[in-house]
Amino acid sequence: MLQELYQPNQDFAKDARIKNMDEYHALVKKATDDYEGFWKAFADEKIDWFKPYDKVLDESNAPFVKWFDGGKLNVAHQCIDRHLETQKNKAAIIFEGDRGDKQVITYLDLYEEVNKFSNLLKEDFGVQKGDRVVIYMPMIPEAAYAMLACARIGAIHSIVFGGFSSEALRDRIEDAEAKVVITADGAYRKTKPYMLKPVVDEALTGETPVEKVLVVERNHEEVTWVEGRDYSYNELIKNKSAQCDAEPMESEDPLFLLYTSGSTGKPKGVQHNTAGYILWAQMTMEWVFDVKQNDTYWCTADIGWITGHTYIVYGPLAMGATTIMFEGVITFPDAGRPWKMVEEHKINQFYTAPTAIRVLHKTGEDEPAKYDLSSLKVLGTVGEPIDPPAWKWYYEEVGQSKCAIVDTYWQTETGGHIVSPLPGATPIKPACATLPLPGIMAEILDPETGEKVGEGESGYMCVTRPWPSQIRGVWGDDERFKKSYFGDVTKEGRPVYFTGDGAIYGENGYITITGRTDDVINVSGHRMGTAEVEAAIKKHDNVAAVAVVGKPHELKGEGIFAYIVLKSVKDDVANELETMKEINAIIKTEIGNIALCDDMVFVPDLPKTRSGKIMRRILRALAKGEKITQDTSTLEDPTIVGQIEALVNAS
Ligand code: PRX
Repeated sequence: MLQELYQPNQDFAKDARIKNMDEYHALVKKATDDYEGFWKAFADEKIDWFKPYDKVLDESNAPFVKWFDGGKLNVAHQCIDRHLETQKNKAAIIFEGDRGDKQVITYLDLYEEVNKFSNLLKEDFGVQKGDRVVIYMPMIPEAAYAMLACARIGAIHSIVFGGFSSEALRDRIEDAEAKVVITADGAYRKTKPYMLKPVVDEALTGETPVEKVLVVERNHEEVTWVEGRDYSYNELIKNKSAQCDAEPMESEDPLFLLYTSGSTGKPKGVQHNTAGYILWAQMTMEWVFDVKQNDTYWCTADIGWITGHTYIVYGPLAMGATTIMFEGVITFPDAGRPWKMVEEHKINQFYTAPTAIRVLHKTGEDEPAKYDLSSLKVLGTVGEPIDPPAWKWYYEEVGQSKCAIVDTYWQTETGGHIVSPLPGATPIKPACATLPLPGIMAEILDPETGEKVGEGESGYMCVTRPWPSQIRGVWGDDERFKKSYFGDVTKEGRPVYFTGDGAIYGENGYITITGRTDDVINVSGHRMGTAEVEAAIKKHDNVAAVAVVGKPHELKGEGIFAYIVLKSVKDDVANELETMKEINAIIKTEIGNIALCDDMVFVPDLPKTRSGKIMRRILRALAKGEKITQDTSTLEDPTIVGQIEALVNAS
């Protein structure tokens, strides 16, 4: 096992913030010996407080916790204003458009743009502290300005990924009771314009809490304007003042909501608050990517996901780094695009998802060799387990065997990384997230006993103490928050946080994440709840029942496999194909392209227990083509398994 470890590059390590495992262990010890003291030291050092806090951690109402209560700060100030004195002319954001257009936005530019945006929201739209603002935007600088403007005036943003459909957007707008939507006419993909504003129009038909829509004109295509509701950002911004005081926010004032899938019901509005979130976003940027003053850092995520929030916008800007924002598609015009960008911008840290690595590997194995990638120091992955062949290619061909690969494990709910190698310290291993970050009490527990499992044993990935950037609530649903993340297991009297992932301990306490233990499917690193997809499929008139499961997929990690029971069966192939098309069309309207089914099989019934519970384990195994060995005698109709198996094999 141990010989599989790759040691950190010593040239890199000598200047790293955490230089070796002794320093790592010293930090872990500090956190173990004096947990609050550990966090206090970093909060005092890293955050530019408007008013000092009274208490580091208040657990009296756990699992609802308060970090740095009584303190006041502002995240936009932390990300922009405080850097002006030393680096106002440094690039904050380097934007590369889909068609190769480029823009460098300095910290001073960012300050002015965000202030103007803040004034626009306040003066023209009447946005006040605590109001919810939905952002449905492409990857353009105005999306970052919008986030930071909300943070500056104390509005709570809720970004909806631009690939989500009008129905998905409508659900999120309604749940958050948003009063404003910020969008764009559209943007460019593979040099062609695509549209977002029509999706917003559709989402706002009928009753809606939204009063005003701000439209950034990016591709200048024709859009419909609703009088008194829709306004052009390009027009309104012209006469705005570049002066706007940052609102002093309480440490525990909400910063944003981000909807994510759970195993049941509709997506949950994960709430992150001000101080704890920004502290950990900044600390993990510094520790895990080890970005230096003159570095250029690129994370390829979309701002619609948590990775884009924490590691394109908030983390990099909080630490005063230069962050790349990319509008385009990384495989366009060819799979050399990211490496061409690395060469051109002399990128030092590159962060992407295993799905992207697999696609870049499969479609452009030799592309990295065509470019000068010598600027790279740290390569990151996130969102799903990475398979060893993709890891090796990333390490050897992209990183030229000298860059650390940081396999960062975390979730929307954790706000930032929780288990990850440190690039100058941790010996790495293909497809292994390695060790908990200092300050994060992450442990693999037996779900029944709550005991930590031993080496070689698997259990549930948990966190046994609250940490600053953890989810603070599910918007509008305290019960769901408690039920979704905290079971009956306690440790030293504290409720234990359950991630929903399985994990296994290897040698030296190394952690390998094995995937979700619930009904969440991870498609290309994006979370899809089975309940959401099933609800969409059930909207088809001829669907009586449905169960969807994940199935391993060569590029996407997992694909979606649907077992569907039809009300009336015509038994002809053309008819079945037509129904499949109709079902996928419904999914596209209800959720978006990311939730389209890769496989659909029409079955006579689903395998149910006598109490009516669908045996998903059996369906997952059948989707993988595995033989069913488990006992099926508890099923209402044990013969159904053989029938489904035959249909899956024939499909
Ligand atoms: O299953 C884990 C997987 O992604 C889930 C979180 O998804 P989401 O909230 O959308 O956030 C994605 C970006 C942080 C987790 O529950 N996951 C995330 N990172 C890894 C991972 N699985 C394995 N290895 C990782 N490094």
